[in-house]
Amino acid sequence: MGSHAHAHDNIDWPSRLTELRRADLLTATARAEVAARLVDDSVRTVIDMGSGSGGWATSFTEALRASGKPGCTVVLVDAVPELLAAAEKSVRAVAGSEVEVVVVHGDAADPGLAVRLPPADLIWASHVVHHLPNERQGVRNLAASLARGGRLALVEGGLPARFLVNDIGVGEPGLQQRLDVANTKWFKAMRADMAGSVPLTVGWSRVLRDVGLVDVTAFSYLFDRPAPLSDADRTTVIDRVRWMRDTTEGWCSREDTALLDRMLDPADDLSLADREDLFWLQANTVHLGRRPLA
Ligand SMILES: C[S@@+](CC[C@H](N)C(=O)[O-])C[C@H]1O[C@@H](n2cnc3c(N)ncnc32)[C@H](O)[C@@H]1O
Repeated sequence: MGSHAHAHDNIDWPSRLTELRRADLLTATARAEVAARLVDDSVRTVIDMGSGSGGWATSFTEALRASGKPGCTVVLVDAVPELLAAAEKSVRAVAGSEVEVVVVHGDAADPGLAVRLPPADLIWASHVVHHLPNERQGVRNLAASLARGGRLALVEGGLPARFLVNDIGVGEPGLQQRLDVANTKWFKAMRADMAGSVPLTVGWSRVLRDVGLVDVTAFSYLFDRPAPLSDADRTTVIDRVRWMRDTTEGWCSREDTALLDRMLDPADDLSLADREDLFWLQANTVHLGRRPLA
């Protein structure tokens, strides 16, 4: 696909850049811990597939620098040039002269992408494979970019973010759970609308094994920000509620959409801007597999 790489999911990714950058603030602590855990002595080249606004790639760059190994490289890959440019800026700001930064505009669904990438000791693919029409083929493409002995780390699934108390004081308690159900319906429709969409009905560990990876395992990490949130983290909650409002409309009740509108209106009694009890708790699962040495 070369320079014609594009996302398949009809999501307006460039318009989400500011929001993705703000979320990078909320996730910074957890990212640093996960990056340090995955960048072991064998890791010199890291590919961040679907690098978004660059938060994860920044953390991997810092972990590579901290490891003190010579000859380290971080490769950013994304289908959306606007995001790629923003990610490159953030990563170059921390790479120094020790870590080489390579930027590739590419489509993770393209089986030809691997030949444009250096063989990687670690491929990080966080919340990108579920945006590909054929997720299994996407994982196969990623595995093809691994060096022998290299590891693929796929972030998919876990537990959805919680940020509201159970009873916000208006409407039935459990709004967050109802939004999760509505979001699942939106997600199914988003996937079904992609040209060539193939359902995936097995777990990720099975997919990793099916594409020939070994030592398949997983761990989960938390984004754990208790109340009261900083102003920046509160804004991330508001961003998420706006995204949930837009994606769940038509998939949840009109009453719940109206509640979300009220929560997003700074002049309303229900405005999130006035709530002291917002928090953020989310568990993400990292599914790991290794390319055999021979
Ligand atoms: C949900 S964001 C995840 C960003 C980042 N990996 C993270 O976890 O914070 C999905 C990213 O995947 C990118 N993306 C979507 N479809 C893609 C494709 N077919 N190939 C490469 N990147 C893609 C989007 O542009 C966006 O940057």
